[in-house]
Amino acid sequence: MPNDPYLDASVRWRIRAGTLETQEPSHGSVVDSILSAGLATEVVGPLSAGKEATVFLARLGDAPIAIKVYRLFRTSHRGGRPTKVDMMAWIAAHEFELLRQAWKAGVRVPTPARRVENMLAMRYLGDADGPAPRLQDVRLDEPAPFLEELLGSVEALARAGVVHGDLSAFNVLVHDGHAWFIDFSDGIRVDRFGGVPWRRLTVASDALRHGLRALGGYFRRYGLTIEAETIVPRILRELDRFGVLSADGP
Ligand SMILES: Nc1ncnc2c1ncn2[C@@H]1O[C@H](COP(=O)(O)OP(=O)(O)O)[C@@H](O)[C@H]1O
Ligand SMILES: [Mg+2]
Repeated sequence: MPNDPYLDASVRWRIRAGTLETQEPSHGSVVDSILSAGLATEVVGPLSAGKEATVFLARLGDAPIAIKVYRLFRTSHRGGRPTKVDMMAWIAAHEFELLRQAWKAGVRVPTPARRVENMLAMRYLGDADGPAPRLQDVRLDEPAPFLEELLGSVEALARAGVVHGDLSAFNVLVHDGHAWFIDFSDGIRVDRFGGVPWRRLTVASDALRHGLRALGGYFRRYGLTIEAETIVPRILRELDRFGVLSADGP
């Protein structure tokens, strides 16, 4: 869980202690939840099943739509609150909010549509032949301008108050010749409305550095490098200009 190791530790402990069961709801019941929440009128099938979430291709009327469903762990009746259920709804809401913030600022992300509990509906990136590929699986014809645009988008994202917490060639889709960011579950808000500023910016700059290194690993195959040590301080300075770093509380 992003930004809160304590809850995670408690969930791990409760799994060990047997007060949380790790069974998942069946595929059919997930589809039923999507339909009954009104997020889609038809679920076509899963696009991807990750560690924490499954992404489905669905339809809302005639339009394709992507639905990310965070996996729930059911709680047993032997005491304890349904921590995992609440937490996954919280993560879906967090991802929805960051997507919205990025999208409003004109950064290429799948337009968020709606969030209901642990489910998040967004624009489907792809076409009739299938979903847009991950950058990791693409061989770029013109890597240099692509990288330049991508780095510009990382900066635009930060200006919009969002740092992607898990940036890598696995969380960038290539659609219409452009890079689109997905998977904001670990994203960090760096505008002035979040938590304690200095901590957030430390976390954000670590995440940025880590993400740029991961992207750098991908671009090395084209003989291109990413100067994380130049870019990260520049982005932080810019954020500071908006009064985040220098804010020393109320
Ligand atoms: N809006 C979307 N349009 C098309 N495919 C998507 C979309 N969102 C996610 N996917 C597909 O689902 C995969 C997993 O999504 P992601 O948000 O990265 O979840 P995870 O937490 O499992 O990594 C992506 O790699 C991509 O292939
Ligand atoms: Mg991902």
